[in-house]
Amino acid sequence: MSNQIPEEVIEEIRKTNDIVDIIGEYVHLKKQGRNYFGLCPFHGEKTPSFSVTQEKQIFHCFGCGKGGNVLTFMMEIESFSFYEAIKFLADKSGITLPDSGIKQESSITQESQSILSAHGWLTKLYHHLLRYTKDGKEGYKYLKERGIGDDAIETFQLGFAPNVKDFVAEFLIKKGFQKQLLVKAGILSQLNDTEVTDRFRGRVMFPIRNHIGKTVAFGGRSIKEQEPKYLNSPESELFQKGKLLYNFDLAKKHIRKVNEVVLFEGYMDVISAYQAGVKNVVATLGTSLTEPQAKLLNRYVETVIICYDGDRAGLEATYKAAELLRKNGCSIKVARLDSDMDPDSFIQKYGSEAFEDKVIKASETYMSFYMRYLKKDFNLKNEGDRINYIENILKELAMIESSIEREYYLRELSNEYNISIEALSSEMYEYRQKQGIPRDNQQKNRYTNKNTIAKRNKKLFPAFYNAERKLISYMLQDSYITDKVQNEMGAGFNVDDHKIIATHLYAFYEEGHSPDISLFIDRLNDDRLKQQVIEVAMMPVLNEISDREINDYIRIILNKANDSVNIKSLKEQQKLAEQQNDPLKAAQIAMQIIEIQKHLKNPN
Ligand code: CTP
Ligand code: MN
Repeated sequence: MSNQIPEEVIEEIRKTNDIVDIIGEYVHLKKQGRNYFGLCPFHGEKTPSFSVTQEKQIFHCFGCGKGGNVLTFMMEIESFSFYEAIKFLADKSGITLPDSGIKQESSITQESQSILSAHGWLTKLYHHLLRYTKDGKEGYKYLKERGIGDDAIETFQLGFAPNVKDFVAEFLIKKGFQKQLLVKAGILSQLNDTEVTDRFRGRVMFPIRNHIGKTVAFGGRSIKEQEPKYLNSPESELFQKGKLLYNFDLAKKHIRKVNEVVLFEGYMDVISAYQAGVKNVVATLGTSLTEPQAKLLNRYVETVIICYDGDRAGLEATYKAAELLRKNGCSIKVARLDSDMDPDSFIQKYGSEAFEDKVIKASETYMSFYMRYLKKDFNLKNEGDRINYIENILKELAMIESSIEREYYLRELSNEYNISIEALSSEMYEYRQKQGIPRDNQQKNRYTNKNTIAKRNKKLFPAFYNAERKLISYMLQDSYITDKVQNEMGAGFNVDDHKIIATHLYAFYEEGHSPDISLFIDRLNDDRLKQQVIEVAMMPVLNEISDREINDYIRIILNKANDSVNIKSLKEQQKLAEQQNDPLKAAQIAMQIIEIQKHLKNPN
């Protein structure tokens, strides 16, 4: 990886950013033995095969094979360039990068960088105006009247765009930003061929931050009767409504803590909830929830509490969001509000405590919600409708994994509609059978992933191959063993990749490094090699290993070197079988040869 940042600085940045903390901001990790496990953020999965070791400062997914150190993780997850990943982590740990001579490659275009910078300036400007100037007074007053305090104004960097033709235009153009770029970014509007004007005027400004806290757009709320109520920035490379969630950056750490997120429809809902002390909150941006948003949430969290407006439209939107989230692997709950309420108005009317206790904590399960939701389609006073309704509920119930939950709702239905639980239960089982769900469907623990991993690793490798991997895994954490191996067998590994890895390791220790897997993989140029090292490093090995065991491995490996001789003899046998007109035997031998060759060359 070419870069001009001194290696010591990179090392310091890696050392001050513990991989478990950093990945923990993206993935819900649970400790299991010495490693941490969670759902892989790089591929969809329901049982965790993504593992992180603190000791070795690396991660690896046994499912999709991705792996690396803290820098690689940031590059993958944020599509950062190497420099951006370094910069991001340096900022986090308060390390200043030497700025001379560093090639600042970036993953976004020059134009987007410029727009990002303009949004940064504007966020500060609008906020300053609102907070401290006469120009922003009416915005400040508006927020106060809606019960928004200084702390929230600060946290969300709320601001005000004065009702002046070219306040912003002048400010930004003076700073050297190009007029046309600002028009494109939706900060200015083109009046006619030559003139431009501020796009947001007389509005309270909500900066829309991306998931790393940079403003990429604005939502402007009119404070009088001006239409539209909210004016938003246009979509751009930086701002895609369907991929962002409002407040995701700040909510992340709170979401992590409780493994739950509350999903709203509006900016004001988020801000009110934050003030009420409920901080694991995000909102969509004026459109229905999208698949990328659902996937994003599923990556971070197990349960999504949908808290939409209490009206008809809110109920429909809740159903749609619930389906989408469930499809993408989230558990969901639904918070209930009266039909004339939205979360913000509830908090303003009944206060924080009521919101937390009566809305968030009292949120209903998906099944309860569905039973309530479905009623809209039926007239339950009519017997035919009632039966139809119950059948629909049973179909849905049949899909529920937890037998306790199923039983609970069966009882509820039985009580409410006065039908025996046996009758309901037998019909539900019929639906289950139709769906091909086994009767005795034991629930699996999300975090007992041992089986899946064991299964995936079940491929049988020849002894020499396993010995080479074992040996390398010890060499990765012990320079003494490496020395011994180097002396006794040099580059005598049979698998080409192993040979290369060993050679790199010899050089690594010769340069005076102590064992450091994370640093070592940084220095390998080849992605395939990196992945191999990570996989090997993730293998469980003993802390103490005797010389005898090492000797055994070496012996197995050296013996295998004779295998090329083996291939030769197999080929002769194959020829013989062909001559003897025994195609079956010849084919079997051919397979053996292919297997050996495959393992010699590229064992994965
Ligand atoms: N929205 C929008 N454009 C509009 C109306 C709404 O982009 N013309 C988006 C905003 O993101 C808003 C969300 O949809 O936050 C929810 O709309 P609504 O419920 O009407 O707004 P509230 O959040 O209730 O805002 P307020 O309380 O200020 O009326
Ligand atoms: Mn609303």
